Amino acid sequence: MKQVVFEITDNRPIADSVYLLSLSGDTSAVAAPGQFVNLRLDGFYLRRPLSVFDCSEGRLRLIYKVVGQGTAALSRTSPGTMLDVLTGLGNGYDLSDAGDRPLVIGGGVGVPPMYLLAKRLRAQGKAVHAVLGFNKASEVFYEAEFRAMGCAVTVATADGSYGVRGFVTDALPESYSYYYCCGPEPMLRAVYRTAKSSGQLSFEKRMGCGFGACMGCSCRTITGYKRICKEGPVLRKEEIAWED
Ligand SMILES: Cc1cc2nc3c(=O)[nH]c(=O)nc-3n(C[C@H](O)[C@H](O)[C@H](O)COP(=O)(O)OP(=O)(O)OC[C@H]3O[C@@H](n4cnc5c(N)ncnc54)[C@H](O)[C@@H]3O)c2cc1C
Ligand code: FES
Repeated sequence: MKQVVFEITDNRPIADSVYLLSLSGDTSAVAAPGQFVNLRLDGFYLRRPLSVFDCSEGRLRLIYKVVGQGTAALSRTSPGTMLDVLTGLGNGYDLSDAGDRPLVIGGGVGVPPMYLLAKRLRAQGKAVHAVLGFNKASEVFYEAEFRAMGCAVTVATADGSYGVRGFVTDALPESYSYYYCCGPEPMLRAVYRTAKSSGQLSFEKRMGCGFGACMGCSCRTITGYKRICKEGPVLRKEEIAWED
């Protein structure tokens, strides 16, 4: 983990209530796709966690949806503003299990971490299929960017206003070697039940500290309790113990 002051270089809407935030600063602690950062926002006691969407040396990009006061305040923040960010949080996805034809499955703001993951898998020569799920056409983002990196892409919308009508589980291809998934918990459960291969799923919990100190994000797994912010947010399918 590293605490870094980043400068906002751009902060613009890319879909209905969804923003792309571009930052410049030290990205050396960001190691793996699926990791997250934790932003301090003026006037808010708790930091707000966001997944790494894209990262290169000195450049970090995040995608966020405005859902409450913190993200609304962030959407009003201008380029040139300095942001205090904890970087390199969480475990991220393990690419070594991917096989030749991995599937990346993202739902809503679960799509951002899939972008850097797909980019890294493509760099290894994998044939990546991206299944991206949204509520409606106005919320769809970055389909073209996944295609541009050479992924096959299927988009599903819950109301059928774009792509396949239904959920990501209605749009899974027939065959794939492995899957990686991020999205709301009902979607994770549906993918867990439906997908034919093994995989890794990324979980979202309300977080206190975000770096393993408060135990506020603990969840039960078949190998004992794990902190979603530290030993997660990515869990392997085989270790998940769903709590009803
Ligand atoms: C590891 C991790 C990665 C995340 N990555 C992204 C991302 O890439 N893009 C993105 O848009 N969001 C992401 N989130 C969710 C994001 O952190 C919350 O939406 C944000 O903190 C809400 O802040 P707020 O002040 O606007 O909303 P609040 O006023 O705090 O809450 C508004 C609403 O959002 C819900 N909410 C708040 N925090 C969470 C949370 N952590 N999980 C689920 N629901 C929440 C609340 O229950 C409430 O209904 C991630 C969360 C985690 C834990
Ligand atoms: S949020 Fe504090 S331990 Fe995870």
